[in-house]
Amino acid sequence: MTTALSFYPASDLNITPFIPAVDRNFADDVISGLALPQKQLHAKYFYDQQGSDFFDQICQLEEYYPYQTELNLLPKVASDLANTFPTDCTIVEFGAGSLIKIKPLLSAMPGIRQFIPIDISGIHLELACQQLQSDYPDLTVKPVVGDFCFPVELPALHNQQKIGFFPGSTIGNFCPAQAASFLENARCTLGPDSHLLIGVDTKKSPYYLHRAYNDANGITAKFNRNILSRINRELGANFVPENFEHYAFYNAGQGRVEMHLVSTAEHVVDVFGTAVSFAAGESIHTENSYKYTPDEFCQLATSAGWHVEQTWLAEKDLFATYLLRNHN
Ligand SMILES: C[S@@+](CC[C@H](N)C(=O)[O-])C[C@H]1O[C@@H](n2cnc3c(N)ncnc32)[C@H](O)[C@@H]1O
Repeated sequence: MTTALSFYPASDLNITPFIPAVDRNFADDVISGLALPQKQLHAKYFYDQQGSDFFDQICQLEEYYPYQTELNLLPKVASDLANTFPTDCTIVEFGAGSLIKIKPLLSAMPGIRQFIPIDISGIHLELACQQLQSDYPDLTVKPVVGDFCFPVELPALHNQQKIGFFPGSTIGNFCPAQAASFLENARCTLGPDSHLLIGVDTKKSPYYLHRAYNDANGITAKFNRNILSRINRELGANFVPENFEHYAFYNAGQGRVEMHLVSTAEHVVDVFGTAVSFAAGESIHTENSYKYTPDEFCQLATSAGWHVEQTWLAEKDLFATYLLRNHN
């Protein structure tokens, strides 16, 4: 075990032992994921403060088409929805990040009174909320730091119309069965007669997909390797991130882009006191980004109890936004 996480019997040292504040769920997930035959880490662990900053840099890349394509589509979506939601509504955004994509909605939909952004990356969310609140002083902003893989408790709401918002094709990080569970849970969280506005990346030529996840400046590679640096920082592991190469490709059979970190040599890493061996060329699977045709996504949403009310397709069908409704 590394020094940062060592502790000694109090009687030997005559002091109260220092037990570092390790996130037990994070530690357990990392150890169990690295024990699998295909080593894996959950994509949600990309997003500490550093990871969120890298993601913001990815969004500025010309190659990463989903971000700008969706952002360009949202003003049209918002103006179409302005009459559907005329007064007093609350937007609950899942995986809200830097709070950029809510702005076209706020600009075109004056009925939005309250905004509840949910994100796992706490400091990043807090900073983004401060900025949003100063840009929109009349909006009530109630951030929730939490993991939307589990039921999320929302702050008390007045009897307002609730609209979930889930942009960025973050739904693609779930496998289809998990995506269906997420959609079912979101229906419970948002309640009867709610809506969900969701951005989903489409199936397209692997040419676009390969460029999007293998940018020339290596920012996506830095984002990918940061998960190892984060494990070092928070769990006292001794990964050398440079010993792992970024590898991303479109798996057509599964309909997903896979991201991996490939060990360049045989070596052993100490992770929170557990020795994890890597063969040369062995990978850690760090992310899936599933892509859906509109038919596939509508089927998925319907299977989770949502009714698809409206679909907007971006230029060249590069991205889709759907308005779902919960009739229950
Ligand atoms: C792909 S980024 C999208 C960010 C933003 N919504 C956009 O469209 O640009 C995913 C966002 O979801 C957050 N996130 C990922 N997994 C999460 C989880 N399990 N619970 C809550 N937030 C999560 C990340 O911190 C990040 O801000």
